[in-house]
Amino acid sequence: MSDNGVAGRVRELVARHRAGWTLERGFYTDRDLFELEMERVFRRGWLYAGHVSQVPRPGDFFTWEVAGSPILVTRDARGEVHAFLNVCRHRGTKVCADPCGNADRFICPYHGWTYGTDGKLLAARLMPKDFNKADFPLGRVASTVRDGMIFMCLSDDAPDLDAAVEAIHRQVEPYELEKARIIHTREYEVRANWKIVVENARECYHCVCAHPELCKLMPHVAIDSPGQMEQFEREFAAQSSLWKEMGLSTEGVPMGDREFHAMRFAFRKGVTTQTMDGRPKAPLLGRLARPEAGVVACSILPAYWLEVSCDYALVWRLTPADWGLTRVRADWLVRGDAREGVDFHPKGVSEFWEATLDQDWGLCARNHEGVTSVGYVPGPFAPGLDGRATLGENGPAKFVEWYLRRISDV
Ligand code: FES
Ligand SMILES: [Fe+2]
Repeated sequence: MSDNGVAGRVRELVARHRAGWTLERGFYTDRDLFELEMERVFRRGWLYAGHVSQVPRPGDFFTWEVAGSPILVTRDARGEVHAFLNVCRHRGTKVCADPCGNADRFICPYHGWTYGTDGKLLAARLMPKDFNKADFPLGRVASTVRDGMIFMCLSDDAPDLDAAVEAIHRQVEPYELEKARIIHTREYEVRANWKIVVENARECYHCVCAHPELCKLMPHVAIDSPGQMEQFEREFAAQSSLWKEMGLSTEGVPMGDREFHAMRFAFRKGVTTQTMDGRPKAPLLGRLARPEAGVVACSILPAYWLEVSCDYALVWRLTPADWGLTRVRADWLVRGDAREGVDFHPKGVSEFWEATLDQDWGLCARNHEGVTSVGYVPGPFAPGLDGRATLGENGPAKFVEWYLRRISDV
């Protein structure tokens, strides 16, 4: 590689990339490229920060750090949710160090500048008479709340999010996720580059090899012949008519060239949710009157995933920590009025996806070990069978194209 800086190296890597093939090693190992990704992908796109049930009351807050930016999410006294840069406007100290809590103000530990839950500077000691506190609020981060999910964007020029959240809203609206609450959380440290984690989440070519529990529930993940595909398509059509009767959207949006997807998938006969035995482990979400709703899977690149069964939702947030480490926070949500120990036991709700996510993180770490090794050369993505459940690797192939566009976008 000629040494004309990371931008030049990226141009060379992008120019050498072969469509439909995996990325070269340099994409996974270049430390400077990781910084460029934070700038061009994570500081420009919409990111999922958390769920409204993390800040139910005025003064509730949580913090998070992404793409080199400490973030403070609050609910102010008027009930409005905000996202701020968690950085003091005096000399730049990180203001709030707690992961979450409730406060009526945030006092910077260094010199005591004090901010309200709406980000306004309330007090600054010994400053001159002409100092105007209104000029020094916490830096505001663009944010929006849809279906109970708090999204934020670090760019001053945030891209359009409407198409993504509306496609997701059409699928999940009857589940009333804004009224759900978190009953279980896992924070994972995945020993893999963040792109490996996304690639893994974008395909089910690996499911038959890696996810025995998932294969027991979902017919399409275990298809390996055109005959099975036809049978699946017939079953899917039958289930779609039931979903329509139930008032559920069957008009999914596949990812294609977009940065989001929102699709409903069918279960095997007798299965109605993603639990170990396929039976509900918590009361039905929202306005669902019966459990046969399939499972809704949604994502917004680069960092948001959502899976909604009839009785619970799994939402996960991806945070790149460095080029070889990705943090994933996974939250399990049930309806807000469900009583623990009476209506549900957290383990019954969470154990299926905990097992499946552990399998995925193990694969991601092994994939990372291989693609960062000197001998690795790119390989071809599998095209899969035609049809609704292509079962190939169209997903990661499309993600790679999306990523190459973003990283080349000056
Ligand atoms: S840096 Fe925050 S008060 Fe001085
Ligand atoms: Fe997987």
